[in-house]
Amino acid sequence: MSLSHTIALAPLHAAIRRVVRGFGSGPAEVEAVANNLIEANLTGHDSHGVGMLPRYAEAYLEGGLKPNTHVTTLLDAGALLRLDGNAGFGQVIGQEAMALGIERARQHGSCILALGNAHHLGRIGAWAEQVAAAGLVSLHFVNVIARGIVAPFGGADARFGTNPFCAGVPITGRAPVILDFATSIIAQGKTRVAMNKGEQVPADHLIDDQGRPTLEPRYTVVPPFGALLTFGAHKGYGLAMMAELLGGALASGMTQRDNDSSQRRILNGMFSVLVDPARLGDVAAFEQEALAFIDWVKASPPRAGFDAVQVAGEPERARRAERSAHGVAIDATTWREILEGAAKLGVDPAAVEADAVLHSNSPRGSK
Ligand SMILES: NC(=O)c1ccc[n+]([C@@H]2O[C@H](COP(=O)([O-])OP(=O)(O)OC[C@H]3O[C@@H](n4cnc5c(N)ncnc54)[C@H](O)[C@@H]3O)[C@@H](O)[C@H]2O)c1
Repeated sequence: MSLSHTIALAPLHAAIRRVVRGFGSGPAEVEAVANNLIEANLTGHDSHGVGMLPRYAEAYLEGGLKPNTHVTTLLDAGALLRLDGNAGFGQVIGQEAMALGIERARQHGSCILALGNAHHLGRIGAWAEQVAAAGLVSLHFVNVIARGIVAPFGGADARFGTNPFCAGVPITGRAPVILDFATSIIAQGKTRVAMNKGEQVPADHLIDDQGRPTLEPRYTVVPPFGALLTFGAHKGYGLAMMAELLGGALASGMTQRDNDSSQRRILNGMFSVLVDPARLGDVAAFEQEALAFIDWVKASPPRAGFDAVQVAGEPERARRAERSAHGVAIDATTWREILEGAAKLGVDPAAVEADAVLHSNSPRGSK
C-alpha cells in the first residue's frame, strides 16, 4: 500500500478552491467545481474526484477547457432541448443543463435533453441526484470524446470511451435510487488511481497493446496503450454502443472515432430523459409499489461474503457519511500531481499544501 494523505473536509475544500481559482473561474464556478469533485471523493469515486484537476489544468492550458462558460440553447421545442456546453466546466454545464431540463419536465411532464460539447461531466450520478431532488425520474446516456480507452466485445484495441449510464428514481421520504456506472468493467480513472497506488487491477479487466490480458493498469494510463474491457461481455458493450449512439451521435453530433492522445480535454455528450412521475400517473401508487419492491428485494438473505443486499445509491451514501466524518484519503502520487497542476495554473503549491493540513502515512483505502 502506497503512502496516502488523509485530509479533513474543510481544509480539503480550502485547498481545492485555491487550485480552481487558478483557472480564473468566478466564485460560483470555483464552488461548483470544488464541491462536485470533492463529492465524487466523498461518495467513493476517487476516479472522478480532485485527482482530475491536473488533467483539467492541462486541458485548460491547451485551450480545450473554457472556464466561465455557460450552456447555450441550440434548439428549444418545449419538452425537447438541444444544448451546447461550449467546452465549459462540466460541473457548471451539467448543473445548468439539468436545471433547464427540470423546469421543462415540470411544465410538460417530461423533457428530452441533448447536451453536446460539455467538458468532463464528472460523476454522472450528481446529475441524476439533482433531478431526483426535484422529484423527477431521469435516465442519462453519456459518451466520451477523448482518446479511446475501451475495446468492443471481441476487439483487440480501444474504440470508445468508458461511456457511463445513469438512472435516478426519487421516492418521497427515502433516499433516491441512483444507478451510475461506466460501461467499462472499471472507470478509467480507477486504473489511474491503481497505477498511482502501485496496485494491479483484477484479471479480465484489461488488455495490453497487443490485445493480450494484463493486470497492469499502466496500459490505459501511459503509452503504449492497451484497453479496458466492457462489463458483462457483449451486454456492457451493447450499452456502451447505445451511449455512443445516443449521447454521442444523437445528442452532440460527435462520436469517438480517433485514438489521438495528443489532446488533454475530455468532452462528454449526454442524452437525458426526465420524467415527472406525478404527471405520468398516480405518484402515491408508484411510490408505494417501488418501496414494496425495494423492501422485497432487500429482504433477500445475504449470501456468504455479503453483509446485506443493497440498492444502487446506498454504497455512495454510506461512504459519504464515513468520509465526511473521517476525511478523504488521497494517495501521495495523486496529491503530488494536484500540486504540480496547481503550479501550472500559477497557484503556489505551498499555499495549497498549507490549506490542506495533511495527515500523512494513513493507509486508508481509497474505496
Ligand atoms: N464523465 C465521464 O466521462 C465518466 C465516464 C465514466 C464513468 N464516469 C463516472 O465514474 C463513476 C464510477 O463508475 P464505476 O463504473 O466505477 O462505478 P461502480 O462500478 O462503482 O458502480 C457504481 C454503481 O453501482 C452501485 N453499486 C455498487 N455496489 C453495489 C452493491 N453492492 N449493491 C447494489 N448497487 C451497488 C452504486 O450505487 C452505483 O450506482 C460514476 O460516477 C460514473 O458516472 C464518468
